[in-house]
Parts: sequence; C-alpha cells; structure tokens
Amino acid sequence: MIVVDKSVFILNTKNTTYVFHRMENGYLEHLYYGDYVDFKGHYDAIIPKVEFPNGSLVVYSEEYGNIALETRAQEISTRGKGDVREPMVDVTFADGNKTCDFVYQSYEIVAKTNLQDLPSAYGEEIESLVIYMKDVRYGLILALTYSVFVESNVITRSSKLIHEGEGNIIVDRLLSMQLDLPKSSYTITSFQGAWAREMQKHTLTLDGGIFVNNSKAGISSNRNNPFMMLSDATTSEEYGACYGSNLIYSGNHYEAVEVGSNKTTRFLSGMNPFGFSFTLMPGQTIESPEAVLTFASNGFRGVSANMHQFVRNHIVRGVHQFKERPILINSWEASYFDFSEASLFRLARAAKGVGIELFVLDDGWFGKRNDDTSSLGDWSVNTKKLPNGLKGLAEKINRIGMDFGIWVEPEMINADSDCYRNHPEYAVNATLGEQSLGRHQMILDLTQLVVQDYVIEQITGVIESANITYVKWDMNRVFSDVFTASLPPDRQGEFSHRYVLGLYRVLKVLTERFPQVLFESCSSGGNRFDLGMLCYMPQVWASDNTDATCRVAIQTGYSYGYPMSVVGAHVSASPNHQTLRVTSLETRFQVACFGLLGYECNLVDLSSEELELITKQVAWYKKYRAVLQFGDYYRVMSNEAGRYQWMVVSKDKKTAIGLFFQTLVEANYSYPTFQATGLDDDRIYTFKNRRSEFNIKVFGDLINSISPVHLKQDSLAHNIVAKFMKKEYEKEEYIVSGSVLNNTGIQLKQAFVGTGYNDDMRMFQDFASRLYIIEEV
Ligand code: GLA
Repeated sequence: MIVVDKSVFILNTKNTTYVFHRMENGYLEHLYYGDYVDFKGHYDAIIPKVEFPNGSLVVYSEEYGNIALETRAQEISTRGKGDVREPMVDVTFADGNKTCDFVYQSYEIVAKTNLQDLPSAYGEEIESLVIYMKDVRYGLILALTYSVFVESNVITRSSKLIHEGEGNIIVDRLLSMQLDLPKSSYTITSFQGAWAREMQKHTLTLDGGIFVNNSKAGISSNRNNPFMMLSDATTSEEYGACYGSNLIYSGNHYEAVEVGSNKTTRFLSGMNPFGFSFTLMPGQTIESPEAVLTFASNGFRGVSANMHQFVRNHIVRGVHQFKERPILINSWEASYFDFSEASLFRLARAAKGVGIELFVLDDGWFGKRNDDTSSLGDWSVNTKKLPNGLKGLAEKINRIGMDFGIWVEPEMINADSDCYRNHPEYAVNATLGEQSLGRHQMILDLTQLVVQDYVIEQITGVIESANITYVKWDMNRVFSDVFTASLPPDRQGEFSHRYVLGLYRVLKVLTERFPQVLFESCSSGGNRFDLGMLCYMPQVWASDNTDATCRVAIQTGYSYGYPMSVVGAHVSASPNHQTLRVTSLETRFQVACFGLLGYECNLVDLSSEELELITKQVAWYKKYRAVLQFGDYYRVMSNEAGRYQWMVVSKDKKTAIGLFFQTLVEANYSYPTFQATGLDDDRIYTFKNRRSEFNIKVFGDLINSISPVHLKQDSLAHNIVAKFMKKEYEKEEYIVSGSVLNNTGIQLKQAFVGTGYNDDMRMFQDFASRLYIIEEV
C-alpha cells in the first residue's frame, strides 16, 4: 500500500515499510527500509536533524547551507552538488556539463504498468508510485517508479529519463535503484561462478571502500549472478535483518555497495555503466530495467521466501506458470552429436519404458552439424541423420505416448553456415578474422531489426515443422569484441543494451506466437539465469554440471534467490561427464528431484536393474511432483562439513519431502538429526525414509567377517553374491507431531562407523543421500 502524507512517501508491504521524504531543496531523502512500522502520522522523529555541514563538506547551495548531500541518504544521486559517492544517474548535457540537479516536481499513484521495451514484474492490483524529478536547466526529467508487491514483501524500482530540452544528451549511466542504508559493515552475499560451477555463495563484510558485483559478458553471466543480499553481521539462516535484490535484465548488470565517509552504505543496482553510453535526442526517453528489493527480519530464509513467492507469482507467467512440468529425457549426454533417427527412437522407447513423458532432441539435428564448428544459423533438419525430418521423428515419438521437444541456439552463427555465407552482415562484428570466437561461433547482431526477424522466422519454421511442445533455447558464448555496423561510431556504447532489447522483442514475439510451448532457457547451463529470461521462459537449465555433489551446492546457491520451480535438474551418467565422479543412481536422483526432473544419459545402455530403479524413481517423483515443484522450499543445513539438508513443504502443509546429503564420511560421526521445518506444529505426521537397496560390495572385504566362505574381492563368487544379495536401507518410520519435527527434529538411525552392523544401521557413505517423506496422518 502506498501512503503519501504531505512530503513523506510510505510504501507498505505485508511485513515491510519503505519511507522517504522530500527535503527543503526538493531532493528525496531515504528514511527507512525494514520491518513494518506504523507511524500513526508522526514522522519528525525519523527525519535527520542537520543545522551545519560537518567539516569541509560541499553544501548543496548557499540557500540550503545545511544540506551536504554526501552525508544524506538519498533515493537517487547524480554527479555533482556535493555527493562524491557512486551515482545512480550520470549524464553529459549538450554543452558538456555533467552536473545534474534533479528536483522534485510531482507524483502520481497508478496501477502498475509494464515497461515499454523491457520485461517487468506483473500482477493484479499492484500499485505504483511515480515521482517526477526535473533538471530544469536542461529540460531533463527523471521519473522514478516504485511498485509495491504486498504479499511478496517486494518493492520494485525503475527509472526513466525523458528529454524535453535541447541538444543531445549522453546517458553514461542509468541505474534502476539506489538504497542508502544507515550504517556500514553489512555482510554482502553474492553468487559467483563459472561454467559448471554456478552460484557459489560468496560473503564479505564491507566496512570501507566499494564492492562491485557485475557482468561485462553481455549476458547476466555465471560469473556474478545479479541476485545479492546485504545483511547484519549476526544474521543467520533463520534470524536477523536481510535485504535481497535482483534485476529483471539479461545483459550487463552492475551492483555496487559503497561505504561513504560518514560510515553509511550505498547500494546500487542496474545496467552496467561499463562500455555504456546512450544518446538521447530531444523528445526521446530511456527506461532502466526494473530492480527488485525485499527485506526480511527472519534471516536469509525470509528473503528467499519473499523472492520465491515473487518469482512464482509476478515474474513467471503463461500457461505453464503453475502447471506441473514434464519429466524429460534429453539426448545430449546420451549421444552428443552422434545419433540417427533409429538411435533416438531407441532412447525414446527406453525412456517411455521407465515412465518419462517428454523426449528432447538436443544439439546436432540441423545443417551438417556433427561437432560444434558448423551450422548454427541454418535451422533446417539434417536429413542424413533424420531422413523423415523432425516431423517424422516427432510422430514416432508421439505414437508411443511421449511429447517431443527440441534444442535451438537461435542467437548464434557459425562462419561455416549458409546463413553466414549469405549474410555475413548478420553477425556481431561481422569482419571475420578480427574477432575472438567462443565455441567457434559468432553472435547474431540482434540490434538489427532484419536479424531479429530472421531469427523469429527461422524458429517459427522449426516449431511449426513438427508437433513440438518444448523448446530449449540455448546461448553458448559470451560477448567480446563487440561492434556493429548498424550504429554510428559515436553510438557503439548502445550496443549491449540494444542487443538485449532486440532479444526481448524476439522472445516476446515467439512466446506470444507459441503460448502452449514450454520454453527452457539455457546458456551453457546457468550463464544467463536471470529474472529477464524468466519473464519469457518459465524454467532454466541451471548448470551443465550434473554431478550430484556439485549440484547440491549449485542448487543451494540458486535457492537463495529463485524458487525450485524454475531450476532444471537432470540425472546423468556415472562416472559423471563433468567430474568423472562415481555417484549412486539414488543420490543422483534424490538431488535432481528437488528441481524440474529430467534424465540425460543413455538409458539404452543401462542394466535392467538400473532401469527398474529409474522406473521407481519416476513413479515416486510423479506422486510427489506438485510438492517438489511448487511447495515451499527451505534450506535446513547448508554445507556444514559437506552436509546439506533441504525441505519442501506443500502449501497446505500436509506433505513434505526432506533431503539429507553428505559429501564425505566423517569417521565416528553417526548420530545426526533431520531437522524439519515449515510444518504445522499442531498436526500429527508420519515420517518415513524412501527405501531402496544397496549393494553388499560397499562392505569390501569386511564381508568375510560374516560370510561362511571366504570371498575374494571382485571374484566371480563375490559378484554373484552381490548380484543376488541386495540389502535394504535402514527403515525410519515414526509418528511425530509437527511441533517435534519443527523444533527437536528426528534422531536418525545410527550410521555405520565400523564397530558393528545390523539391518537397523544407516549405510551412509561418501556422496550418500536420503529422502524423507512427511505426511499428515
Ligand atoms: C550447452 C548446453 C548443453 C547442451 C549443449 C549442446 O552446453 O548447456 O545442455 O545443450 O550446449 O551443444
């Protein structure tokens, strides 16, 4: 809810309040952002009392000699007028002057609207406060929009420059939000990484200087995800003050945290000013992406809960928003580029046999693509591999009762492609030989309308060529050496942003043209995992790394800012193709099942025993899919000596699933608790583990301490015994109150430590995991 009381502006969500006011000089001073506060109409107490500027500070003007902007918390800041901290807006006027002076003009409260060319959050009955500031000398208006998402405890912010004056203005930076906080020494949590190592949690305490989390890769990137948190030093998973921030944008982003001379903290977020320079002609406007802010006083968990609710309800949209997502088989790690219609169909049949619902044909089906050096840009089927086209293959697959989906990488072009031979000018920095390539490919120049239309038509052709219900939209290199002939020399600084705008137009047209198609965004895994893409595509392939041990950390990282309903997670081969680590099929599944489950391995080569196990996994996942995909997710234990516990609880609190994962065995550590959370204290539940079997070979030659005959390791006799003598996991089964689950947790069965064994022991080796099923009685 938005309240304006004379010069004070109050934005209330269910649990938070955000307040600022208009100062005497027409600037906007930030007063408070935190837990919900009821002012009962009295604000004087929280307005700073300043009679004289401290020390040698520059003051705003002789008239307002008490206003030294460097020490005032502001809603926006620019260059000049005494504030020497990082600005939110920076422009160069036609006369070369860079000093800005935006003064309050007016405000309006309106129903939230979409941004013009950028994706934005949406929702019914969402109010926006729009404040108009103006630099009257140059006729430049800065419109600030604050939208209030009451239930999610989120406030979004965006800014827009409207040029009503004379001459061209160069916009050097237009960030989306600024949050000036009253103290220093916040703990900053950001999520950094690389290919196959996305979303590694990184923390530091900043009590001086500046910290920047950003992307210069042209995409939001796996290097630094735009989601960030600022918290008190004492904040933990469940307790303490925490701010969360994200950006609805898929290009270069910039989040800066600066501690000023008066020991306060400025937090900024928006498009990266690096390489950015945008010319505004008289009459033109430029809008920033929308920034997302939340606050919680119940720790990281509170921020995550707010972000999850916000992303599910106000970012993801379309027919798939709340629809259970299909279990898929993806051909990539099953056969890479090497397949035929027959081999794909064999894979589909094996997948159907275990209950999988959607067959996804990944890279290698088009042009003459047998490796990654050619054919991107030529979206016509390779008839050597698929003589009956996509249509023929899709029909066969549909006939056995599976849906059919396809991989595309529409933003890319190989030099070895008909597209490049016919239209070299379609590529970014088209002069081949000059630019550095990534995965042998160039990027199509989506700043050009003709190239956008080319991509739209090509992909329309692909989707219409067969019964395609799913599209994996990939993007496998970062930007480098950017240059476009479509812009004049002095406007090359617009390239990166214009590319993103071009991409958004393409995505808008295609997703509106094919509303039934389930799109999954991908960029070498999570190289473009952001809220911008999620406005068009309801799920993302989170990482090319499918090693369960790595995935547990990666998925935990995503969980801070994103709900599990957008995270693609697959079971792949063992040894894993990225790490060569050997992990049990059960652990691979138990970690993947917390996301949108798929399989990405050659099922045709698996043993009947493994297929039987997968059949059970798939059936189990279907039973609990709604809660796993759309329940409330909690981190219970995050990397405590390599141990993780997760929980997901249905909205009605009737059903919950828990995961316990262990990286490495610790000797003589055998009595952990499973600490549940999120259940109803007053209800009674059953707590059970998901039973499965293990191979007695885990005992090694300890088997001889109970075997009547001596078994030599890996001998024929040992293998025969192992094949027929499967052991069941320990049985955990209790009736327990929600209150116990939430507070004391469950004492799990003793883990094997080498001093005895019976059927009640929990065999929990390296990379072991268990799923716990909690259901209301
Ligand atoms: C990227 C994706 C993979 C796969 C390959 C195909 O690496 O992340 O999932 O689609 O491309 O080339």
